[in-house]
Amino acid sequence: MCGIIGAVAQRNVAPILIEGLKRLEYRGYDSAGVALLQDQEIKRIRTTGRVAALEEAVREQNAHGLTGIAHTRWATHGAPTEGNAHPHVSGGIAVVHNGIIENHEALRAELKQAGFSFTSQTDTEVIAHLINHYFKSCRDLFQATREAVARLQGAYAIGVVCDSMPNKLIAARQGSPLLIGVGVEEHFIASDTSALLPVTQRFIYLEDGDVAELGLTSIVVVDKNGAAVSRAIQQSELRAEMVELGEYRHYMQKEIYEQPRALSDTLQELINGGVQPILFGMEAESILSTIERITFLACGTSYHSALTARYWIEALAGIPCNAEIASEYRYRTSVPDPKALIVTISQSGETADTLSALKHAQSLGHEYTLTICNVSESALVRESRLNMITRAGPEIGVASTKAFTTQLAALFTLALVLAKLRGRLNAVEEQKQIAALRALPGQMQRVLALESRVQRWAERFAEKQHALFLGRGMHYPIALEGALKLKEISYIHAEAYPAGELKHGPLALVDKDMPVIAIAPNDALLEKLKSNLQEVRARGGELYVVLDEDTHIQDMDEIHKITLPLHAGWLSPILHVVPLQMLSYHAALQKGTDVDKPRNLAKSVTVE
Ligand code: F6R
Repeated sequence: MCGIIGAVAQRNVAPILIEGLKRLEYRGYDSAGVALLQDQEIKRIRTTGRVAALEEAVREQNAHGLTGIAHTRWATHGAPTEGNAHPHVSGGIAVVHNGIIENHEALRAELKQAGFSFTSQTDTEVIAHLINHYFKSCRDLFQATREAVARLQGAYAIGVVCDSMPNKLIAARQGSPLLIGVGVEEHFIASDTSALLPVTQRFIYLEDGDVAELGLTSIVVVDKNGAAVSRAIQQSELRAEMVELGEYRHYMQKEIYEQPRALSDTLQELINGGVQPILFGMEAESILSTIERITFLACGTSYHSALTARYWIEALAGIPCNAEIASEYRYRTSVPDPKALIVTISQSGETADTLSALKHAQSLGHEYTLTICNVSESALVRESRLNMITRAGPEIGVASTKAFTTQLAALFTLALVLAKLRGRLNAVEEQKQIAALRALPGQMQRVLALESRVQRWAERFAEKQHALFLGRGMHYPIALEGALKLKEISYIHAEAYPAGELKHGPLALVDKDMPVIAIAPNDALLEKLKSNLQEVRARGGELYVVLDEDTHIQDMDEIHKITLPLHAGWLSPILHVVPLQMLSYHAALQKGTDVDKPRNLAKSVTVE
């Protein structure tokens, strides 16, 4: 989704803005632009395509300035053209925006009546004209922005500069992420911390409804009621090099390889301190002892975590669970249960659908909320009573990998805590599970070592148009995740089914051109799965099977096998997803797609 960066400083901010945009590229975009206050005028440059093209244009035109804003646009209203790219300008005022203004049509009509003319199809241009409209009477950019945002419906994070007010940068947010970077006699705004790490590690997280005025040495924030508020400055633990590619070719590859470290970091407190409710927050013991059911809300890969967790929690803790796609839940009539725990799962913590689903659940009277999230300062964490932060570190590749496996680790922790609180986890069993978790990063290293074999599979896959993924039980969500990964970065159409469903329909698709990937751990469902595989072979389907070392599968002709370490029990899904991540990565490499920024997709989906 769109990325915003802005700066007010005593040095040329153009390189800071361009570097920030590069660091926001991962969010997904199709055009980019910058506005600098140069010689008392707005110098605006916009390009379609990559930030590199914008950088080149800035260099060629020697654009510079001490104050400026910049933007990467992921098109919603209007095609990804230069004319629709941000910043949008009205009079001497320039605006960048992330979000969607729902009442833009009514505002556009009103502003046209007032004599403003529009040059783009975007909803953002109304914001620029609206601020200009109010600025004409008050001549104060902060005041004009506050009056303008009071008229907006929908979601926005905006940055504003004005040619007659050098050394001033205005920021406002409602529903879309925006933070302030605090420097020494210079201040910044950005959509996330990664954009600003080269210039500061000190951040102020704006809250919904906040509008802020940044000067060289001042920061003034007013809240949604117009009252001046003081928002705390927080020191980030992130460092610039944590979001750099280093020796890797792609972020996705780096993030796949970071998984053993990410798992150890996420599980450290559990492994050192045992299965304790406090892992989820101060109120966790009382809330987790009270609840009688769990509703998971999430999107995409995070939804697949929820589906897996359902198997663990129902089996280990005996608590009924349901997992719902957040964008569906928020618009359907559901029956609230006051004893239910609402668990949201999200890498970014800013996904608009998941956030709205949580707010919807709260509006239905759900009091007990927990989030599993990778960003500790995110909106979902702030909105939830309990949380567990996954320690994956920043995830830059659009295709989620380490966020997924650390979510699973956190959810398994939740299953153990709930089991213990209900007297279903004795001390011996607890130690056994902790030992299994301690061994997990090492086992994952062994799975990563299988990369060259997966690569050979990928070479064959890259020629295919379609693929079918099969799994059973808690590996069915892993099949879903494998199919999602393959389609999003290699653009090969993929479907996933519980293997038992094959003959209820999808078997009709199987022929020699349809590769079928089966996840075959050595679990209680293995014998059933073997029969399903025979059904595929009998129809000429080409089988690719991911086994455990102790899985015994009779040799069949033309069956391709990759063998993982010994069966990892409940933790098996966390290992079995890794070859599927590598398969999609290598299939994408073969096809030459843009692995980290697949077409049409954005990293953090902050609009509905
Ligand atoms: C797929 C992927 C997406 C996200 C989804 C939710 O690889 O990354 O499906 O999982 O957009 O995002 P978060 O987890 O940030 O809420």
